Amino acid sequence: MSRSAHPAGPRHADVVQEHQPAAAPDDLNALAAGIWPSSARRLDGVLHLGGVSVPDLVARHGTPAFFMDEHDLRQRARAYATAFDAGDVYYAGKAFLCTTVARWIAEEGLGLDVCTDGELAVAVAAGFPAERLAMHGNNKSRAELERAVAAGVGRVIVDSFDEIARLREVAARAGVRQRVLVRVTVGVEAHTHEFIATAHEDQKFGFSLSGGQAEQAVAAVLEAESLDLVGLHSHIGSQIFDTAGFDVSAHRVVELAATIRDRYGVEIAEINLGGGLGVAYLPGDDPETPKEIAQRLSAIVERECRSAGLAVPRLSMEPGRAIVGPSAITVYEVGTVKDVVLDGNLTRCYVSVDGGMSDNIRTALYDADYTCALANRASDAPAKLARVVGRHCESGDIVVRDTWLPSDVAPGDLLAVAATGAYCRSMASNYNHVRRPPVVGVRDGVSAALVRRETEADLLSLDTGWRA
Ligand code: LLP
Repeated sequence: MSRSAHPAGPRHADVVQEHQPAAAPDDLNALAAGIWPSSARRLDGVLHLGGVSVPDLVARHGTPAFFMDEHDLRQRARAYATAFDAGDVYYAGKAFLCTTVARWIAEEGLGLDVCTDGELAVAVAAGFPAERLAMHGNNKSRAELERAVAAGVGRVIVDSFDEIARLREVAARAGVRQRVLVRVTVGVEAHTHEFIATAHEDQKFGFSLSGGQAEQAVAAVLEAESLDLVGLHSHIGSQIFDTAGFDVSAHRVVELAATIRDRYGVEIAEINLGGGLGVAYLPGDDPETPKEIAQRLSAIVERECRSAGLAVPRLSMEPGRAIVGPSAITVYEVGTVKDVVLDGNLTRCYVSVDGGMSDNIRTALYDADYTCALANRASDAPAKLARVVGRHCESGDIVVRDTWLPSDVAPGDLLAVAATGAYCRSMASNYNHVRRPPVVGVRDGVSAALVRRETEADLLSLDTGWRA
């Protein structure tokens, strides 16, 4: 098992596994089910997305570029909106956010989770209904809180005692009663195929259950006239397949709700279990459906509430990756192909593309795995073990660590990497002064840039020089 996940960022040494390349697939031209956007297909050997051939998309928008299948994204958003109540699903904009995607999400009836003033600005620019916004962050500045309150965000998820004091004052000054959820650290850390339900409270987010901190935070909110406690929040990790972690977290949050009712006479109206639902990056990855997840979690919350004599609260979630991840692909142009002899009988082919760690840092950062395929043609050439690397000045600049490509792969070929909609463009950098790629929407035979490619002028415009 080579996949690794992580609670909310850092790569954990204990879950990073040795890489063992999987055996070559029978058909290198096949598009593995569940990994590519729903409109992806090969016609006459050429990859098509949203009814447009990838070479045509590239002729118009260049490489590297992210191509996002609008219907696929909307369909995923809708699946969550149907499985839960639409208003209880907050798309986590950190996975990828631009004004058009914010509008699609609004049109599908979902809420939106933003975690900085920058994400809030995009939501506001998109005209996203403010009451459906939830504002996260472990270090929200006074200015961010003022902006959130002024914009009328529906919920602020408070994360520290400092923030509670700050928000209390900001809301009082604005003359509003701000609705808040208290972020609880439930002592669960989830990885792709496992979760750990003890300790793991040693991280920056939330108030821990152990030691009574979460309860104190609730008490501080209840004391503040300008704050209105609507619920409890927990988030246990990302790219989670073993959903038993959510079960434990639901159980622990309901226990806290019961304590709050008993000690303060207040019923918790909403429990938000965060994001983290996994998507398929490789053949064999088999995430649960939104419906299965919703049914299981609702059953747990209902059961736990009944046994504690609590009214059943609303159950909300914040999927990011599960909505946008599989909806987009990255297309690169191959620039060089180089065989490197590993030992006497094994050769690894390094295929260099025109992007890299500046548009997908996940391989370097989390040891993430991806599926890729030739996009401009099919090939009957035998498979060879390949590593897709970028153009940056760094040997860790790897896009796909191990893959099998047709042995006739050559400069000028187009290579598509699947499931790059989440945490790729949103984590992109200008390392080596590379210009960040566009995100192009595709649907029903038409395409349009949602976020344009950066230009050299964009980069140089920041370089103001020392102006006295
Ligand atoms: N809610 C909260 C409070 C979160 O912190 C996150 C992600 C989400 C929702 C959405 O999680 P998702 O459904 O997308 O897994 N950069 C990493 C992922 C970091 C996730 C951070 N928090 C990656 O590329 O895998």
